Amino acid sequence: MDVESTRARLVRALEDFAPGDESVEPCLRAAIGVATQTPGGLLRPILACEGALARGLGVRCAEEIACALEYFHVASLMLDDLPCMDDAEIRRGQPCVHRQFGDATAILASLSLISRAYALLGRALAGLPAAEQRECHALVDEALGARGLAGGQAADLRFSEGPRDARSASRIALRKTGGLFRAALLLPAIAAGAGPDQRRALTAVAVYWSLAYQALDDTRDLLSNQAITGKTTGRDRLLDRPNVALALGLPGSRRRTARLIRLAGLRLARLAASEPRCAFLLAFHREHFPSAADAVRAA
Ligand code: IPE
Ligand code: IPE
Ligand code: MG
Ligand code: MG
Ligand code: MG
Repeated sequence: MDVESTRARLVRALEDFAPGDESVEPCLRAAIGVATQTPGGLLRPILACEGALARGLGVRCAEEIACALEYFHVASLMLDDLPCMDDAEIRRGQPCVHRQFGDATAILASLSLISRAYALLGRALAGLPAAEQRECHALVDEALGARGLAGGQAADLRFSEGPRDARSASRIALRKTGGLFRAALLLPAIAAGAGPDQRRALTAVAVYWSLAYQALDDTRDLLSNQAITGKTTGRDRLLDRPNVALALGLPGSRRRTARLIRLAGLRLARLAASEPRCAFLLAFHREHFPSAADAVRAA
């Protein structure tokens, strides 16, 4: 299946699975609708969906895992944009959910999506052997909970109290951004019974991708504007948030990003050679990560 049809299928599934039927309080329903009917890049759900389909997990299961991860992601963005966090105005080309419906409704919409995400995951994994189910649930807790995304966001808010260097910014990026990449790469693999070599390779790729992805986002926060990115920029310097491009300087950050992208490509080429079902990851890498040379020139 090509990426375009995966994307179209996911856009539909994100609406179908959303927790917003007629019985839901209208403001909350509208807030959930904004979040689920305005798709972003869909990197994580495409990755998870293609990973599940490539391993023969079945269409319904693939869509449920993919939508669960996108709901976690969207929920984390709604919280990230709140005045008590990044105080953003625009997200995906529209006023942020809290700017349209208020902070309280944004928090409750986020909670609704997280709750639905766990329900979808539970359904997707229900037919698996108990050991794989336990591992998948443990991975989600580790990647997205207090030691993962949520903990990374907590550290992000307190960045200015620490050393404020590239090492600290990268450690935070690995948690706040790396968690969902790790889950998107590893959940379908674990669910399909992948062995330790494949898991190690996917874990390494999640590290390279998430550090590169956040560094490119940090660069855009410094250099770009909301007409191009569709979201509020210039917040990291203003609020003293971790930003690798600020900590390392633009040339150093671009060289490092190019190196990370190169390393991910090499690791994926090795993986695809030994495990043909992972070949889709190389195509995904080429589509979504600029070539190493481009990353050096611009972000
Ligand atoms: C935004 O993620 C948060 C970061 C990790 C930088 P995306 O850039 O994937 O956002 P959407 O989903 O495309 O809007
Ligand atoms: C947030 O990082 C990543 C999350 C876990 C939500 P950023 O604060 O840099 O994300 P953007 O730039 O607002 O999308
Ligand atoms: Mg943030
Ligand atoms: Mg932000
Ligand atoms: Mg950012």
